[in-house]
Amino acid sequence: MKKFIPFSVFLGIIWCCLAMTDGRAGLVVNGETPVWEVLNELGEPSPNHLVTILPEKASVEVGRKIVHFGSAKAVRQQSAHFVCTSCHNTEKEFADLRNTDPQKRLDYAVENGLPFLPASPLYGVVNRSSFYNGDYEKKYGDLVIPARNDLRAAIQLCAVECSQGRELKNWELESVLSYLWTLELKMNDLKIPATDYVKFTGSSEDATELIAEIKSYYVTDSPAHFVAPPEDREAGYGLAGNAANGEHIYKLSCLHCHEDQRYSFFDLNDGKLSRKLLAKHFPKHSYYSAYQMIRYGAPSHPGKRAYMPQFTAEKMSNQQVEDLRAYLTKK
Ligand code: HEC
Ligand code: HEC
Repeated sequence: MKKFIPFSVFLGIIWCCLAMTDGRAGLVVNGETPVWEVLNELGEPSPNHLVTILPEKASVEVGRKIVHFGSAKAVRQQSAHFVCTSCHNTEKEFADLRNTDPQKRLDYAVENGLPFLPASPLYGVVNRSSFYNGDYEKKYGDLVIPARNDLRAAIQLCAVECSQGRELKNWELESVLSYLWTLELKMNDLKIPATDYVKFTGSSEDATELIAEIKSYYVTDSPAHFVAPPEDREAGYGLAGNAANGEHIYKLSCLHCHEDQRYSFFDLNDGKLSRKLLAKHFPKHSYYSAYQMIRYGAPSHPGKRAYMPQFTAEKMSNQQVEDLRAYLTKK
């Protein structure tokens, strides 16, 4: 009997050690826990865009200023035309990250007062594993190859090509990336019932399955398909438009860049003149045709480098384009 007690204590210690080396006993998962931490705890390998060493001068705050205002000094400097938030939101864009339908995206934008933009949100971008997907290869050619699986290269491609600016210096790039890490997905962004969190902490279920289960709650890339304007522009896409929905698109998308020439030389507002001009050109083969602009984008004006990025099928549906037309042509 005398020997038995220390022996059971000994067994207890061994059990504790084993439980700890399992790795999963350490992390308490709640709604605020970053999704990446949970995946990492389950054995998912690190992405190549972790920030391991922060260079001198670099910080999250510098990154935030570059993304929202264009430079560490918060003046538009990285690009003379755009800031990252001209085209990308930094907020979540879907109530349920599994359903990335463009109308769900618009509904969420209306509810949350977000602009409706041509590019994917920077919120959760560090949780994605491939960039410039699908048809972007047609637009940027071989430039997408290094950027496809490397977030640093993706940021640089955007800084130069999308923003028409200069490449970021190393300390700026690491700052932007550190800031993007503050926009990573948290467990409560996913529709996983909170009662299920416990199994990601201590259960003996197969880790590979648990990783797959978590990833099934969001998309790890943003697919992109280019669409052509309708062949017969008078007939359009052959869908009846909903003017109320179109009003949201006009205000949250077109006016985001065009009102008071915010990011474009082409000045639009919600007055009659702007709407009439766009309505008149909508069905024409003209530079001012919204079909043309939305589907192909706009080249820059001579001597200027600002251009309008096109909307892919994922970012604006044909139905939504017709909704916009219905709003602009409404008497
Ligand atoms: C004029 C519009 C525009 C500006 C300005 C812009 N981007 Fe982009 N960006 C795009 C488009 C369009 C894509 C294509 C892929 C997508 O977002 O779905 C893209 C893609 C990206 C991607 C890859 C996203 C993915 O999921 O494929 C990153 C990262 C990115 N941009 C970062 C930035 C940063 C950082 C800045 C500011 C320095 C910036 N962008 C400025 C339009 C823009
Ligand atoms: C991300 C910013 C952005 C968004 C969103 C945007 N535009 Fe543009 N648009 C531009 C830029 C930049 C140009 C071209 C160069 C310039 O005017 O500075 C342009 C050009 C145009 C032109 C050609 C006229 C011209 O002088 O170049 C039309 C027409 C147009 N946009 C309509 C629209 C409509 C309709 C929407 C909404 C569906 C829209 N734009 C959304 C930035 C944007």
